[in-house]
Amino acid sequence: MTVSTTLSQTALLVELEPVVARNLDRHLSLAKEWFPHEYVPWSEGRTFDGPLGGEAWSPTDSTIPDVARTALIVNLLTEDNLPSYHHEIATLFGRDGAWGTWVHRWTAEEGRHGVAIRDYLTVTRAVDPVALERARMTHMSEGYTNAHGDEVLHSLAYVSFQELATRISHRNTGKATGDPACEALLARVAADENLHMVFYRNLLAAAFELAPSQAMRAVADVVADFQMPGSGIDGFARKSVAIALAGIYDLRQHRDEVLQPVLRQWDVFNVTGLNADGEAAREQLATQLADLDRAASRFEEKRDARAARQALR
Ligand SMILES: [Fe+2]
Ligand SMILES: [Fe+2]
Repeated sequence: MTVSTTLSQTALLVELEPVVARNLDRHLSLAKEWFPHEYVPWSEGRTFDGPLGGEAWSPTDSTIPDVARTALIVNLLTEDNLPSYHHEIATLFGRDGAWGTWVHRWTAEEGRHGVAIRDYLTVTRAVDPVALERARMTHMSEGYTNAHGDEVLHSLAYVSFQELATRISHRNTGKATGDPACEALLARVAADENLHMVFYRNLLAAAFELAPSQAMRAVADVVADFQMPGSGIDGFARKSVAIALAGIYDLRQHRDEVLQPVLRQWDVFNVTGLNADGEAAREQLATQLADLDRAASRFEEKRDARAARQALR
């Protein structure tokens, strides 16, 4: 049977509500309570300069590698923009019923991430707290707007990928710090992001049953113009190159560890009942994945050549 009816945004929200309710229960049964304060080595902290007259921050206060500091800042600023993300999903998903319960629960969990990482960085003096605060002001003053903010399935596709992207980015940033305590904290945050990804991925899986062509269109569009949520951060392009060169988050990981596993779960290349636009969307998706594969390989070759040159010096 070919499903050709196009569901309105409201119809999609209504039809998916029972799936939200089921996955909310599932999420709550799997989510483990955890406490940010337990992950911060408070006794390492020292008073800073300013009103309390302590010591100013210095780059030598921490031995964390530069690129790990960059990644920590990008990850934290990304988490900091939570008020904008909340606004986007509360506007689209609503604040009532199971959708509303999820919106608030998700926001509460995400709120922990920024708190925990900021406390950690401040206490361990891992990054310049003045530069960090200025960057936060700039970044949050810009706000964040979802590229497909008024489309339910596009937004679900985006967050499915984005939650997994932040999971990988947090986890690899933790490893790059060479600091076991920081790694433990970011692994804990990454575990939250993984459950968020599963929640959204399950919703879009249900959408593939309900409206396969609309779901395929959403996925193809989102893969085509995917941007990390922190892409509005000042100097993001330069920072993301450094992060990619360090293998914390690069195109290969984006394609093979973020897009592919989620697409595989949706079994996109075996979905049936597509209309002409659904088929066209799937073809675009296949082309995009092939293009990304080539681009990722080119980047890896350049990175290898760069490493070889540096080894010779
Ligand atoms: Fe987060
Ligand atoms: Fe998350």
